[in-house]
Amino acid sequence: MGKTGLDPGRGLAVHEAKLGGIASMPRPDLGAGHFMFWEGDVDMNLRRTHGCGELRAGDQGREVTVCGWVNTSRDHGGLTFVDLSDRSGVVQVVFDPGENGALWRAAKEWRGQWCVAISGRVRCRLVGNENPRLPTGAVEILPHAAEVLSRSRPLPFPLESADAADETLRLRHRYLDLRRPELQANLTLRHRFTKAVRDFMDAKGFLEIETPTLTRSTPEGARDYLVPTRLAPAYFYALPQSPQIYKQLLMIGGLERYFQIARCWRDEDLRANRQPEFTQIDVEMSFVEAEDVMALAEDMIRTTFRAVGGPELPDPLPRLTYAEAMRRFGSDKPDLRIPLEIHDLSEAFAKTAFQGFARVLQTGGVVRALGVPGGAGLTRRELDALMEEVRSRGASGLSWLLLGGDGERRVRGPSGPAVRSPIAKFLSDEEISALVSTTGVGAGDAVLVVADLPAVAAAVLGWLRLWAGARMPRSEVGWKALWVTDFPLVEWEAEEGRFVAVHHPFTAPCPEDLGRLTTDPASVVSLSYDLVINGEEVGGGSIRNHDMDIQRQLFSVLGISKEEAEGKFGFLLDALTYGPPPHGGVAFGLDRLVMELAGTDSIRDVIAFPKAARGNDPLTGAPAPVSTAQLRELHLRTEAGSHA
Ligand code: AMO
Repeated sequence: MGKTGLDPGRGLAVHEAKLGGIASMPRPDLGAGHFMFWEGDVDMNLRRTHGCGELRAGDQGREVTVCGWVNTSRDHGGLTFVDLSDRSGVVQVVFDPGENGALWRAAKEWRGQWCVAISGRVRCRLVGNENPRLPTGAVEILPHAAEVLSRSRPLPFPLESADAADETLRLRHRYLDLRRPELQANLTLRHRFTKAVRDFMDAKGFLEIETPTLTRSTPEGARDYLVPTRLAPAYFYALPQSPQIYKQLLMIGGLERYFQIARCWRDEDLRANRQPEFTQIDVEMSFVEAEDVMALAEDMIRTTFRAVGGPELPDPLPRLTYAEAMRRFGSDKPDLRIPLEIHDLSEAFAKTAFQGFARVLQTGGVVRALGVPGGAGLTRRELDALMEEVRSRGASGLSWLLLGGDGERRVRGPSGPAVRSPIAKFLSDEEISALVSTTGVGAGDAVLVVADLPAVAAAVLGWLRLWAGARMPRSEVGWKALWVTDFPLVEWEAEEGRFVAVHHPFTAPCPEDLGRLTTDPASVVSLSYDLVINGEEVGGGSIRNHDMDIQRQLFSVLGISKEEAEGKFGFLLDALTYGPPPHGGVAFGLDRLVMELAGTDSIRDVIAFPKAARGNDPLTGAPAPVSTAQLRELHLRTEAGSHA
């Protein structure tokens, strides 16, 4: 007689059993398919010895116990093959009625995603039966004991083809989706990347310091999430849109080098690269200039990318000023993987007889063009759709030239490609040649032309550039990272009738432009920088105003009255009177960086429990109604009343 015990932690009873031979004990309390099996003098306490994905040919003959989920089960030649997976990978288990009939019969009852423990011997698969696509593909486990740890209901969507399933359904059962190797790989990458960041920052003398999440509103330009409290009727905390003000206060507090893996909240519309709740790698440094912060940031990106097997980025990273990025790529986050550039032809059209362009140029506008490889094949319908799209983006129109085929006008002499264009008859040969040669197009291509105010032309052609890029065959151009610098300090917000900060209101103006801060604010450039990778803004920062007078002037440019500034940021202005060090910093979107590293185009793929498109969480049902009693306690009454 021997005593075998199951792990009491699993909530199962301890069984007395006769050892020797094959025996089985049904567990009617657990239902069909629940058997414990043992053979010979086996310790029935099935304690995991290996991860499913760890076993290799070198483990042949080893007695192992693996735990995991039943992936697939298939019968073949009288044998039952079960693929068992856990976080480490997947391994094949072979149930052979000739070896262990009771075990084989029980395993046939198992269904997908049952959680089981299996003890057995590792053996090499027969020659020809190996699976070279699996790290464990050379081996299989021949079991002699198994335990069903828990059963699973049929899944609401198949894990193997989860991508095709409804996303709300998947989010509602996120814990099932998380069992997929793709999501596990993303979260593993995220962990390793975050650890590499911490290691790097620690080595550079930065302190990781937590800042409050119940705080006052911070001015990052989005709407706040507000938090009521029973102790202060009609008063609200705000969840931070970033730790911006706290990190500046830490510099004033003499901490010199701060970082934080910081959760931020912004109540804004969701996109593929945006979540209402996201994570920043937040950094602030004292006694630095923009160059120092950018050098540290580049070093961090290069080092951490290397640590997780990411791409090697050029050293130093290329830079574009904001003005140049807008002119050449129509975006402050240009995707340089697209080999297309916008060209300014305002000079070539300075004396044009074409009234449509002449009028625009006389009123401060520009004429800009983009070559579209293969664009000559655009149909009338496609061109009309483009026209509609650019109009919806604020442009008055779009002109095009299609090259090749038939057409009465030719460029580069009589044998050159023909040009078909509704505006060809208004343009001189020189003007057509300028459009064609500047944009570098040839037969089979198109030129798209926008004449408008510079900002409108940039925005529209920037969109057209992305549209054209998406149509082009994607050659392997690798990663394209760059800094965009020298953003304007403020921009005019027509709807609000006031200037708003382009970065945030604590950003320092360029010293050379200081004289124009109050007289011509729109012309002032700031000491700011954004890091852009593959067309995604993955980080941004600036040097801050440590001079309180400049900070006050900026508030007044932004239409923030003295009283309002005192009311909202008085504590910061106050702190700035106590010997603040010159300081600056940067914040990276951790989720976006991991998204790029993981090669996915949805931020949700790198967040364990993301929000759905409407900002809701289908898993928990948040946001959810609360009881009238809860509302009353918070001194709140909603217009919609209480639903709970
Ligand atoms: P900024 O507002 O540019 O700067 O934010 C920094 C970076 O955070 C990421 N990010 C987001 N990621 C996912 N979802 C969102 N909703 C979201 N919003 C922003 C972006 C962005 O580049 N306090 C300043 C930084 C500083 O000046 O030091 C700030 O928050 O990748």
